[in-house]
Amino acid sequence: MRAEPCAFVLFGASGDLARRKLLPALYRLALEGYLPPESTIIGAALQPMSTEQFRASMREALEHSSEAGHVDDTAWRAFSRRLHYVPMDISSAEDYRHLGQVLEQVDRHHGTRGNRIFYLSLAPTLHAQAVHHLGETGLTHAHAPSWVRLVVEKPFGTDLETARSLNQGIHRYLDESNVYRMDHYLGKEMVQNLLVLRFANRIFEPLWDRGHIDHVQITSAETVGVEGRGGYYEKAGVVRDMLQNHLLQVLSLLAMEPPSSLSPEAVHEAKREVMASARAFTPERIRTECVRGQYGPGFISGQPVPGYRQEPGVSPHSRTETFAMLTMRFDNPRWAGVPFYVRSGKRMEKRLTEVVVQFKDGPLARGTPNQLHLRIQPDEGIALRFATKAPGRAVHHHDVALDFRYGATFGTRLAEAYERLLLDCMLGISTHFVRNDLVERGWELVMPLLEAWGSAHDELPLAPYAAGSWGPAAANHLLESHGRCWSAR
Ligand code: BG6
Repeated sequence: MRAEPCAFVLFGASGDLARRKLLPALYRLALEGYLPPESTIIGAALQPMSTEQFRASMREALEHSSEAGHVDDTAWRAFSRRLHYVPMDISSAEDYRHLGQVLEQVDRHHGTRGNRIFYLSLAPTLHAQAVHHLGETGLTHAHAPSWVRLVVEKPFGTDLETARSLNQGIHRYLDESNVYRMDHYLGKEMVQNLLVLRFANRIFEPLWDRGHIDHVQITSAETVGVEGRGGYYEKAGVVRDMLQNHLLQVLSLLAMEPPSSLSPEAVHEAKREVMASARAFTPERIRTECVRGQYGPGFISGQPVPGYRQEPGVSPHSRTETFAMLTMRFDNPRWAGVPFYVRSGKRMEKRLTEVVVQFKDGPLARGTPNQLHLRIQPDEGIALRFATKAPGRAVHHHDVALDFRYGATFGTRLAEAYERLLLDCMLGISTHFVRNDLVERGWELVMPLLEAWGSAHDELPLAPYAAGSWGPAAANHLLESHGRCWSAR
């Protein structure tokens, strides 16, 4: 499938995400022939800079990116001709009018046919303003058959109220079908594979319920700390940064009912339905079924690293959580009584994002239960653990695994999440983006936690853990108190 030509306007073009992920993804798409030759990329940011300077700075960003691969001179020359730069003050209506003139020129000279993607990779507090000005200057208006799509990077709002108001602001100018809320976890190969694994096979879905599954664990562990983003992280914390969005999206794909089709509407509807049945966090549930923690100094790969409170931009008395574990429950016929333990943390022992589905014991079970491990990263793949008889005359059970690894089976490079999602947006496929009601539901679910943990009178424990460990002991104790233990390590 080939995308139609378009002008891709990247707000926040000098930012970290643009340099590390977005530009490398666009470069790879161009390299692999997915971008029509007419498609043009317009970087927009506050810094005064010429197009030549922007191109030079993007070349440097590509050289440093592990995702772009080797940057070939000829390929770069062809790609860089697509890049343009427009200095923009997000709050200046005049600058949007100028952008409009640039876009008209691009349409005339490059043949982008009035098709536009506005990609907002800005601080969340600036999204609403950018949408307002785009709308008021008429840039969100498309003359059929041209189209205008808006992509909004996470975080989408900073709480339920800001997310609602951003949605309302967007809908003043754009129909929901042209809005693409980005959650890059939805572009990861294994996350997309959840639909195929669950619904294209016969063997998993009949067992995918409370009759057969004991519980589910979702772990997203990072070894990195706040990577110079202390100021942002102090206000965000792991619940806003990872759980409200990435992990709730993975959870909804795992727990939803089969969608009536793979159309974006059907998938979004199935996710909405299951998330509507997620049990709210009451003060009692927060106290007894959730854990939060903050890393102290420790070691990552043998190297000493500072604690969170010693990071630049972080208060020495910070109460921001860098680890959280939530026990999610669904009050619906499929999942009644089945807990979904969801945890994420910075500065953990290993980088690992994995789902473990633990089945109930068979009648003769002795030892490790059946588990399905879905490795989202690194080393993407699926392992099914089950008991077998060890060779010999006596009957000894032995735990073994059927292990599928993408790398070994397909041998090809897996596309980065952003490559897939940017291409989907250019093709007009919104299945792996987040619909307005889902983003709001995510906020609604975590708001009681944010309020309890962020309140001035907060007396709930903030469990310390050493950098390079598997998080606070309290998270292990909680699972042990349910007669279970973490599998991913
Ligand atoms: C981002 C968070 O959304 O996801 C970062 O803001 C986090 O704090 C990152 O490190 C993790 O993404 P990935 O793809 O490396 O797992």
